[in-house]
Amino acid sequence: MYADNKIRRNTLRDIIKLKGERPVVSLTAYTAPMASQLDQYVDFLLVGDSLAMVLYGMESTIGVTLDTMIEHTKAVMRGSQKALVVMDMPFGSFEESKEQAFQNASRALRETGCAAIKLEGGAAMAETIKFLVERNIPVMAHIGLRPQAVHVMGGYRTQGRNQEERSLMIEDAYAVQAAGAFSVVLEGVAETLAVEITKKLDIITIGIGASAECDGQILVVEDMLGYFPSNAKFVKRYAEVGQIIDGAIKQYAGDVKARDFPAKEHTYGFKPKS
Ligand code: KIV
Repeated sequence: MYADNKIRRNTLRDIIKLKGERPVVSLTAYTAPMASQLDQYVDFLLVGDSLAMVLYGMESTIGVTLDTMIEHTKAVMRGSQKALVVMDMPFGSFEESKEQAFQNASRALRETGCAAIKLEGGAAMAETIKFLVERNIPVMAHIGLRPQAVHVMGGYRTQGRNQEERSLMIEDAYAVQAAGAFSVVLEGVAETLAVEITKKLDIITIGIGASAECDGQILVVEDMLGYFPSNAKFVKRYAEVGQIIDGAIKQYAGDVKARDFPAKEHTYGFKPKS
């Protein structure tokens, strides 16, 4: 049903050279069927730790484990053929030391076949990013609103709205670039700051709640498909899939109760052996 290995998968080079050429298209994916459906339209798929909230109903991304991320990344690799796949490093899997980060990030690449990892953090993670890149692990950094830091940030707040935050974020952006990250996610960042960082950096900026001027965009696919009720300003809802599912399930429940399902065409006849 999924990969037949005939289509060439995007490489890091393919993504990197898009800067200044056209915006990079990306979405999250956590499962094989979703990856298969998104594959032809996106440049890369991110197996985001947002799956903790979207798939597992957790309150934040903090509770998801490395093993869970690896299993979902394997599924996304099986479901896709063309998109480059990036795995998010979950909370607690890379912050302790650069050696810990290498152990866990190398597991991600080795066990799943994905091409790169993403990790949250700016200047504070620069040494770790350098260590990984020098050991052949491509890194996408993630600055601005960092969901794994929700407790220290005091909630999911847009970042870069005062001069101090702006200066710190520009420092973060330069630090991850100097450390060798091939790209950086700018999440929940004031528009003018996202534009400034994108202009200043040579590496690709991927915006989510940032600016159309970023080098590319990402959204959680369930958000843009309208799976859940939400009024998040940065999300454009391209469909209302939650409502479609609700209508279908309501109809199914009614059919079962009325014994209208299964109908004749859904049942098997008896064929006596002659
Ligand atoms: O976990 C995630 O889905 C992410 C993206 C929203 C950037 O980090």
